[in-house]
Amino acid sequence: MEKLWGGRFREALDPEFARFNASFPFDRRLLRADIRANAAYCRALRRAGVLSEDEEARILEGLERILERAERDSDYLERSSAEDVHGFVEARLAELIGETAYKLRTGRSRNDQVSTDLRLYLREQCDLLLEELRQLQAALLDLAERYAEVALPGYTHLQRAQPVVWAHYLLAYFEMFERDRERVRLARARVNVLPLGSGALAGTSVPIDREWLARELGFERVAGNSLDAVSDRDFVLEVIFAAALLQMHLSRLAEDFILYATSEFGFLTLGDAVATGSSLMPQKKNPDALELIRGKAGRVFGHLMSGLTMMKGLPLAYNKDMQEDKEAVFDVLDTVRASVRVATVVLRHVELRPERMTQAALEGYTNATELADYLVRKGMAFRHAHELVGRIVLYAAEKGKSLNELSLEEYRRFAPHIEGDVYDALSLERALASKRAIGGTAPERVRIALCEARERLQGAQGG
Ligand code: ARG
Repeated sequence: MEKLWGGRFREALDPEFARFNASFPFDRRLLRADIRANAAYCRALRRAGVLSEDEEARILEGLERILERAERDSDYLERSSAEDVHGFVEARLAELIGETAYKLRTGRSRNDQVSTDLRLYLREQCDLLLEELRQLQAALLDLAERYAEVALPGYTHLQRAQPVVWAHYLLAYFEMFERDRERVRLARARVNVLPLGSGALAGTSVPIDREWLARELGFERVAGNSLDAVSDRDFVLEVIFAAALLQMHLSRLAEDFILYATSEFGFLTLGDAVATGSSLMPQKKNPDALELIRGKAGRVFGHLMSGLTMMKGLPLAYNKDMQEDKEAVFDVLDTVRASVRVATVVLRHVELRPERMTQAALEGYTNATELADYLVRKGMAFRHAHELVGRIVLYAAEKGKSLNELSLEEYRRFAPHIEGDVYDALSLERALASKRAIGGTAPERVRIALCEARERLQGAQGG
């Protein structure tokens, strides 16, 4: 095993422990970030007078060659017995340029290095996720516009409640993903701080210009306390939290669509591209894509809990427990990013069944509230109107009629001030059109909301 330490040890590492201790099998993902941070640090050392111009040039060239080789030859990483990515880079650099390689470690520890690498990696991951989220939202808006004014029942307690239009329903998810993008941006800002130059825990005695280093690596600012800088993993947890909340939203969308695709609802059909069949039952078409998105939420939430628990008892400053952060956050980002991409594909492969949705919106007394509002307009207090309409619904249900099917005579037996205009008030169109205030489901309001959503998304392009 290639190690970065060993002077004070007499015996070799137990092989079982060596495997347990090594992080290279997973932190090799940080190679590009590690090389970049190394290159910047090399230049900072030169500026501090620790390296000569010639040494700087040789190190920079060596680092570039390592990256280039790693990208072309997968065996290069596979074969290595390095303990971690930092050891890998130092060993390869020494092979390429000799003794000078070992000067790069001056004034630096893996503790400030690993945090720097992870921050560089997560910053890029946040940017990729933000763009994928934008694509998801664009697909949401496309699907919303295709069936914008189709009515469906809105539910509370999964009981038919009041009608809404399809675009209004989908825009609810648009809002959730807007908040998710904001959370990812905020998490990214917390990530974008430079720990390098904190040494192992106490700071560095090499006159490194940390402000310069931060600018060089694109960090917004320099971490202000060396103890905190090497032992802080808030930024990892914040990324995981933002991702977990996003996955929760995806899971709710998946659940809705799974229900809506059942024969019982029959509101939509999933494209063949995102469904699977049964090995036994020939008629089956299963929503596996959506079920996996829902199922993976548990896995992502688990990483959030393990991350918080891992950190909670750690004394300052760095502890090896913290090595556990990497597999967690890598798996979270892999999972959430894949889920966002698959959800986007699902949205692009959905057909609605507008007649089924509209039929459902007309059934189940979803216009009972309209009748109560009608009575209020005729001067009744809402409390009494509510009570009365409840009795009318009970009567109609016993007769097997909808509210629109009751005769004026039947209505008059309940309330003499009900007139012929009640049927207009009970219509689906009126029920929808009346929800005109900001945030409501009136088609004219939803058209405005759709335009605003498009604009917000366009404004977000590229950042
Ligand atoms: N592989 C380690 C990690 O992920 C790197 C830092 C190791 N530092 C140390 N003092 N052992 O946390």
